[in-house]
Amino acid sequence: MERIRIVGGSALNGTIPISGAKNAALPLMIASILTPEPLVLENVPRLRDVNLLGRILGNHGVDMAIAGKRAGQSETTGQVMTLTARDIVDTTAPYDLVSQMRASFWVLGPLLARCGKAKVSLPGGCAIGTRPVDLHLMGLRALGASIDIENGYALAEAPRGLKGATISFPKVSVGATHNVLMAAVLARGTTVLENAAREPEIGDVAACLNKMGANITGIGTETLVIEGVDALHGARHAVLPDRIETGTYAMAVAMTGGDVQLEGARAGLLESALDVLRGSGVTITENNSGIRVARNGAGLQPVDVTTAPFPAFPTDLQAQLMALMCRAEGTSHITETIFENRFMHVQELARLGADISLNGEMATIRGVKRLTGAPVMATDLRASVSLVIAGLVAEGETTISRIYHLDRGFEQLEQKLGNCGATIERLAS
Ligand code: EPZ
Repeated sequence: MERIRIVGGSALNGTIPISGAKNAALPLMIASILTPEPLVLENVPRLRDVNLLGRILGNHGVDMAIAGKRAGQSETTGQVMTLTARDIVDTTAPYDLVSQMRASFWVLGPLLARCGKAKVSLPGGCAIGTRPVDLHLMGLRALGASIDIENGYALAEAPRGLKGATISFPKVSVGATHNVLMAAVLARGTTVLENAAREPEIGDVAACLNKMGANITGIGTETLVIEGVDALHGARHAVLPDRIETGTYAMAVAMTGGDVQLEGARAGLLESALDVLRGSGVTITENNSGIRVARNGAGLQPVDVTTAPFPAFPTDLQAQLMALMCRAEGTSHITETIFENRFMHVQELARLGADISLNGEMATIRGVKRLTGAPVMATDLRASVSLVIAGLVAEGETTISRIYHLDRGFEQLEQKLGNCGATIERLAS
């Protein structure tokens, strides 16, 4: 099994290109189900999850083609992917595929809208929490689908098509918003989604759907209004930059010290996280081509942060911030309100010398003078990268195993950090 080896102690200096957002690319790929015409996506990151979803969509009959690299393009230039769902040949998404990637459950809405039926495995729990799908089912039922749960599958039918409705989500859910939004674009009449998720990736998908002929207004607000249309057509859309990758590298630079340009990053996508870093003493400036992050000499100030839906501090940066605060000059508090079990990194960070205690959903992090390298284990995507951030300043050698988690969501991680001076390499076993 591959591992990542890091020798801590080098400051990061240089430029890190920011990739297209995984969490936008995945639902954008799924949106291809909604039309028989080609959907061309630019700036798609090269990630395990993207490849896996390609296989899942292939099972439904979606043809996926990736354009070859052109002269002058680097390893990190996003891919151009063409997805064509001329005929949906199978409306079943089986357990062995859905259980590998939860986002594949989001095919339920589009399959229902296009084919009037779908059989999609329930995803089950995962390392970061129970992650139910009741809100997805509630929204699709409100659009007129009948859905039974049998043998671990959601069996959904809408033989006479879906019908617009007003749906008020009792809790903000990114996935339920994507799923119901993609179904509602082809429903008859008007759908209003209240308390919809406002994450930028939702806006990116809605903008792409509009290019495909949908009629969605309220993008970026908590109320989305969708006037159903009879059919969607092909379109071309560039995936927005990954705000979580941006925040992760900003925290890495904050940790090691140095000066790095995050090329292609957009500050507006992660203001709350950048504010936290500024409050901690990191210099962050926006420029024409991205964001520049610098910390020279001064220590990090502790923070008090609570995760919440966008525009608040994202749960997907919680682990990385916790790693950073291990080296702050004082005690930080981080409260996780989205996923009840998203603290798997705490015990691994402790192996590097961190002093963190947990009380329910709040972690108390007492800054320490030094971290020391050790073998650690990745437990989920964002937890894994928090270990990388800690490893970058830990004295000596840190080796991280189970790095397939990292490959799900970070493109060219070792290259991007290595090019800025980190001592980091992938070991074959
Ligand atoms: C998306 O997951 C992201 N995944 C997650 O990123 C991210 O952490 C999460 O949103 C929150 O921002 C993708 O975009 C592919 P939710 P999702 O539905 O949609 C509860 C990463 O590392 N809930 O917004 O599954 C749920 O249990 C991943 O890239 C219900 O109760 O998250 C949670 O407490 C990890 N019922 C809260 O809502 C439901 O039907 C928010 O979950 C659905 C969700």
